[in-house]
Amino acid sequence: MIVLWRRGCKIRSLSGSGGRWDSDAGRLEAGGDLTILVPYPAFRFPGFALSRHYQLIDFGNGRKLESLAGRIIDRPSPAAENVSPRDPAAWADVDSRYDLNSRTWNHRTAWPDQLAIEVPDLADPETPALRLPVQPTPFGHIGVFPEQMDNWRWLMRTAPVEELSGSPRSRQRHALNLFAYTGASTMAMAGSGMSVAHVDAAKPNVEAAKRVAVASGLRDAPVRYLVDDAAAFVQREIRRGNRYHTIVLDPPAYGHGPKSKSKSKANANSADKRPAKQAQAWRIARDLPELLKNCFQLVSGRSFRILVTGHSAEMDQADVVDLVERNLSHRRIGRLQPQVEAGRMTLSDQAGRKLDAGFYVRCLLATSH
Ligand SMILES: C[S@@+](CC[C@H](N)C(=O)[O-])C[C@H]1O[C@@H](n2cnc3c(N)ncnc32)[C@H](O)[C@@H]1O
Repeated sequence: MIVLWRRGCKIRSLSGSGGRWDSDAGRLEAGGDLTILVPYPAFRFPGFALSRHYQLIDFGNGRKLESLAGRIIDRPSPAAENVSPRDPAAWADVDSRYDLNSRTWNHRTAWPDQLAIEVPDLADPETPALRLPVQPTPFGHIGVFPEQMDNWRWLMRTAPVEELSGSPRSRQRHALNLFAYTGASTMAMAGSGMSVAHVDAAKPNVEAAKRVAVASGLRDAPVRYLVDDAAAFVQREIRRGNRYHTIVLDPPAYGHGPKSKSKSKANANSADKRPAKQAQAWRIARDLPELLKNCFQLVSGRSFRILVTGHSAEMDQADVVDLVERNLSHRRIGRLQPQVEAGRMTLSDQAGRKLDAGFYVRCLLATSH
């Protein structure tokens, strides 16, 4: 039997016949003898009630309505301006709402401590490949960027395989995640067997990524967590002669380097004691061309991947494809053709409407897969 209730008070029974709830398919299967309590907001969204996944439900009037493993939230979305919600009634009863004017969340029910969304494994949809904790931040974020889902899948699907011979360091496949924040891309790569350097200028964001690693069962994965300026770190890696098989960049339109205390600590621990070029505020249109050029000096010669994503109005995929192709033409790549694909990241709502969430550009040169 499935019983729907509203804030503790039962309102209706959906079925008295018993059955099994298939959370991925979002339907009740006949047979069985199970009682499941479904919170009332989920009554409107039965497909998401017990889902452990993320789903955009509706969007419009500058906001989006989402299910985070069954918890319904309503928060701002600039991309949803000038569009009307498809299902206005669906917005009436939500668990949490972020107000942009007061910059505060209002929670009708307490935010569950262990709330997490799962990203299914490619080969086995029943098994989560990633478990991403979600929690409200003061800026209206939730600690996860679900629009990156296809990129995590691409990182897992095209993961380079280890060399069969050589030293442990040369056999290992190395990845660099710049502007790494929640670490979901870091975990997608670490879970595929890569060692990852995870770089973000904000210490709390790096701490959040460590919690994601624990939730995804990757606490002991070979990940180096670095509070550092992305551009300065790349310059030091070029001087050290390190090489990477994958570089992921998700730069903001505008950002700060690390606070000077964190930066000096990062440098003190670093193998290269030369001071980094003083980190200045990051601006995508001004700084991405040079950072990307430097990243191309860091990629391994025989096979590599570069993923660039962004949400800035100042640059789009055409600008970044242009930068990538300019860098590729300066490299000798032998007879192999790198593949470059680009497009828009989107989130699909319940009705299949797409909400824009920025651009992606993927560059892949593969010799072994
Ligand atoms: C758009 S978020 C990245 C989100 C990330 N891709 C994810 O999925 O969680 C941008 C991140 O860049 C970081 N950042 C801003 N300026 C930086 C800089 N100069 N160097 C390194 N990280 C920086 C911010 O702290 C923030 O965590």
